[in-house]
Amino acid sequence: MSETKIVTANFGNEKARTIEGYESLGGYSVARKSLSMDSAKIIEEVKTSNLRGRGGAGFPTGIKWGFLPKDAKTVHLVCNCDESEPGTCKDGELITWDPHLLIEGMIVSAVALKAEDNYIYIRGEMMAEYLVLQKALDEAYAKGYLGTNIFGSGRTCHITLHRGAGAYICGEETALLNSLEGLRGQPRLKPPFPAVKGLFGNPTIVNNVETLMNIPAIVDKGGQWFADLGVGRSGGTRIVCVSGHVNKPGVYELPMTITMRELIDDVCGGVWKGRKVKAVIPGGSSMPPMCDDELDVPVEFDAMMTDERIKPCEYGPGKTFDMGGGRQLRTMAGSGGIVVIDDETDITKVVWRIMKFYAHESCGQCTPCREGTGWLEKVSKRVAFGKGKPGDAELLGSIAHGIAGNSICALGEAAAWPMMGFLTRFWDEFEAKIAAAQKGSAA
Ligand SMILES: Cc1cc2nc3c(=O)[nH]c(=O)nc-3n(C[C@H](O)[C@H](O)[C@H](O)COP(=O)(O)O)c2cc1C
Ligand code: SF4
Repeated sequence: MSETKIVTANFGNEKARTIEGYESLGGYSVARKSLSMDSAKIIEEVKTSNLRGRGGAGFPTGIKWGFLPKDAKTVHLVCNCDESEPGTCKDGELITWDPHLLIEGMIVSAVALKAEDNYIYIRGEMMAEYLVLQKALDEAYAKGYLGTNIFGSGRTCHITLHRGAGAYICGEETALLNSLEGLRGQPRLKPPFPAVKGLFGNPTIVNNVETLMNIPAIVDKGGQWFADLGVGRSGGTRIVCVSGHVNKPGVYELPMTITMRELIDDVCGGVWKGRKVKAVIPGGSSMPPMCDDELDVPVEFDAMMTDERIKPCEYGPGKTFDMGGGRQLRTMAGSGGIVVIDDETDITKVVWRIMKFYAHESCGQCTPCREGTGWLEKVSKRVAFGKGKPGDAELLGSIAHGIAGNSICALGEAAAWPMMGFLTRFWDEFEAKIAAAQKGSAA
């Protein structure tokens, strides 16, 4: 197994938390180097690297950067550190151990994108991480690495750290931009996408913390080096944050090729208390789960979407969900938030808890999501707590099907997809729970 560590290389190393310590480890040398590079060359290296966005969708970063209009006068770079998807806890950890790596990644990216006024949007609850990051930004400003004449180059690069107020929806990039502008944090209709019309109406690139922290290594060692570390269309390493019923939960940086089973058994010490896997949420709670017989698939982006060992999701027996273009929904690597669920867990209660989250976090702007997530929560609750009615499993499937693809942003799918995924794999458990409720009420 490859031991290459890119974004977690300084985990456990207190030195990296001060600017002097970070520089003694070679920090900020790539930022200096980038100032003498042609910006098109930096973007080319990022394209070659096959770096895919680590915020959830896995969209190729170099391609996204290429969407900026060539004649744009004012461009912004925004780092998404809202990290609120249940099961995801990597960005806070990355910032805590290596705040200057994020700042350096943003400087190099901003130089490439010619972005002068840039922002980090950090989740409101992350107070400790906010303080670490603000201290690091102050240090970088004091040294002249941020400001109006960075590294004496005559170039400008500002980074403003902005705290959110605890709404999951503000992690969605256009809601985030609205929130940054002081508006209500609700998603915008797309198109236009932020790369064309984003913050304050200017072309804007929104990238996740981990995505941006990979940039210095790519520019230092070359895009091909990064691509070769990965597999297929996914360059680099994979950060996963594993929680739930394993012996060794944690944040791990691993090769893209590691399978879910190897990850659970070899890296995380297996399922706790000698139990077995019942289900695994592979990329934050918005992703359909996997069962024990689906775990021999690599945790890489494309494998999770297309490997036929992972069942297509259904919203009722025999009704598979079409993602468009004939592609079936299986699952996705998402944000790397892996939750392992053991075989003594009541799946209907897990599903209810997930639905409760999305119903609470729906911004209410569009009807299928606003009404549908609340309805999913209500029906899944009665099933989970012994009050299910005949037809409830079908009803849950049909509500989920009615939401998916019919909402302004992907929060709708974030509720619908796991609902379909759990129904596909645990239909009998839902039915048994409903049948038991019926028996109980008849008695
Ligand atoms: C409801 C919702 C919440 C999201 N939350 C986050 C988040 O907390 N952090 C994040 O990086 N991306 C989040 N995203 C994805 C962002 O919209 C965006 O795609 C991402 O920040 C782009 O960065 P990347 O290309 O580096 O992945 C969320 C998306 C949705 C629909
Ligand atoms: S899908 Fe939900 S969260 Fe997204 S805009 Fe519509 S109501 Fe708001």
